[in-house]
Amino acid sequence: MKISVNGDFDKMLMDLIKERRSVRLFNGRKIPREDILSIIEAATWAPTGCNNQELWFLILDKEQEISEIVKFKPFFKGISTVILIFCDMSLPMSRKMYYKYKYERHLPYIDTGLALANMVLYAKSKGIDSCIFNLSEYHFVQAKQRSLIKRITNKIKRTLNLHKFMEGNFEFYLRNRLKIPKHLKIMCGVAFGFSKIYPDVNTAIHGGKKIMRETVDYYIIHRE
Ligand SMILES: Cc1cc2nc3c(=O)[nH]c(=O)nc-3n(C[C@H](O)[C@H](O)[C@H](O)COP(=O)(O)O)c2cc1C
Repeated sequence: MKISVNGDFDKMLMDLIKERRSVRLFNGRKIPREDILSIIEAATWAPTGCNNQELWFLILDKEQEISEIVKFKPFFKGISTVILIFCDMSLPMSRKMYYKYKYERHLPYIDTGLALANMVLYAKSKGIDSCIFNLSEYHFVQAKQRSLIKRITNKIKRTLNLHKFMEGNFEFYLRNRLKIPKHLKIMCGVAFGFSKIYPDVNTAIHGGKKIMRETVDYYIIHRE
């Protein structure tokens, strides 16, 4: 089936793009498994650099898994499902490109971004809300409580890839409790659910800045 370029499709797509918001308070309603699978299917149709198709998706929706995630991301109360995205670093093309070359090293991050965009927009088209989240240590509840000495020793452990000794760390949770093998590199996560509060684009602020975008001209680099 070809999508007609006539009609209102372009306008509807633009409205969908503009109306999607990152939601941080959800109402606890569960998303049916088939909807989650179709969201992941949308991700698999995103382009990937060199057609590497290196991304893998982990669905977390059991009560205990969700409560573990909320420990790391306390503001995601009431979410239904988390999808974590991993890059398979063991594929021949991954090994060739991602370890060696300065620019190609970034490709999995770009691929992840494209997959995420497909996911959150497709989800929104089904009335499902989402929030992409990064997994920086800054967000680990436990990380905030660590002493300087512990932080230094943890840094050494991280550098030496000894996550299995770092309880309370998201990498520890993934590798040990969820048994995620080392060749799968964690890229990003997305929380899905149904909003309890939907951010108002006209007033909401995040990161010290209004989430409302400027008009398009503002973002264009004009040359003299
Ligand atoms: C790569 C990435 C990481 C993000 N990480 C977080 C996060 O950890 N926590 C959070 O609340 N929002 C996170 N966000 C959502 C942004 O804060 C949000 O997209 C931004 O404020 C604009 O709002 P909007 O998505 O409603 O347009 C992330 C978004 C992206 C693209």
